[in-house]
Amino acid sequence: MTERETPPRSGQLHQAVALLLAGELVALPTETVYGLGADAANPEAVARIYTAKGRPADHPLIVHLAAASHLAQWAAEAPPAARALAAAFWPGPLTLILKKQDWVPLAVTGGQDTIGLRVPAHPLALELLAAFAAARAPAPAGIAAPSANRFGRISPTTAAHVREELGEAISLILDGGPCEIGIESTIVDFSRAAPEILRPGAITASDIARVTGAPPRLHGGRRESGMTGADDAAPRVPGALAAHYAPRTPLRLADSAAFSAELARLARAGQRVAALAHSAAAPRDAGSLSAWRALPAEPAAYARQIYASLRALDALGADLILVEAPPELPAWRAIADRLRRAAAPS
Ligand code: TXA
Ligand code: MG
Repeated sequence: MTERETPPRSGQLHQAVALLLAGELVALPTETVYGLGADAANPEAVARIYTAKGRPADHPLIVHLAAASHLAQWAAEAPPAARALAAAFWPGPLTLILKKQDWVPLAVTGGQDTIGLRVPAHPLALELLAAFAAARAPAPAGIAAPSANRFGRISPTTAAHVREELGEAISLILDGGPCEIGIESTIVDFSRAAPEILRPGAITASDIARVTGAPPRLHGGRRESGMTGADDAAPRVPGALAAHYAPRTPLRLADSAAFSAELARLARAGQRVAALAHSAAAPRDAGSLSAWRALPAEPAAYARQIYASLRALDALGADLILVEAPPELPAWRAIADRLRRAAAPS
């Protein structure tokens, strides 16, 4: 084990704070996916994130805060519904898009007058954010952090994934174990006339409606009713680009009812297929099947494992990853969204 792979201790937290203050990058665990963090108030530090990820500079970053009480330092205004969501779900997998304070550097917002804010629910992330805020007080302190993957690739849900993706580009990787949620936060945009979900996540439209009293709009103008999608979307949200979260191996979805037959057909055609199922039965004759993986048929448990599974199947170098299409239910919507993007040609 090298120094940077040792389990996090207070010494490592001090080191992380010192690196952030010096404008360096630190990878940190969150409950959703691992983030690639930098001092959000330092444009040069933020620029390092874009370089390390190979991400276009007009794609805004999410700023992570130690507590909801810090929101007003970054956001110029927060409507009552946004405040209610922060109170209900922070720390947690929810990002709010709000009008930014004038001082917030445009580097972190991709040139926009809005800012994405969230308080992550991971003990190590919260410790780091609190220590960073204490070092900065009374000045505002936030950690800008996109998912710690190369642009357009699968998000990392373990420290080892971060090392595979970005390794030497990062000064320090804090290891907080595998991510609890496993897919990125729900993003709700409050900068326009009506609140709109820009990216579905573990917090669903009905969770939001329960708190705000009204169902949010969905990106693309549709309300949540089963499997609506954001794939027709504006490049304003990189997550809304068609090809995102993509493995290198071509990926296709097949309905549960047709899954086994499709596998058999591909095997007969000599294709080396890696299969990812959640309810379909494994074929009796595995034939030329490269791999068979079954994920739980329950959305939270499925989400926790989806990116690690895609990463593992991608590493096999098969001709195709065939994924059993998820159920057309609201609870599966965020998963369906990520799979649809992974299936889009890059
Ligand atoms: O769960 C998460 O949100 C993870 C963890 C690390 O917190 N972060 C994450 O970051 O997924 P990233 O950069 O991979 O995705 C951030 C998304 C992008 O789609 C970006 O366009 C959107 O948030 N976003 C950030 N600020 C925005 C803004 N001002 N307006 C619209 N979209 C914004
Ligand atoms: Mg990302």
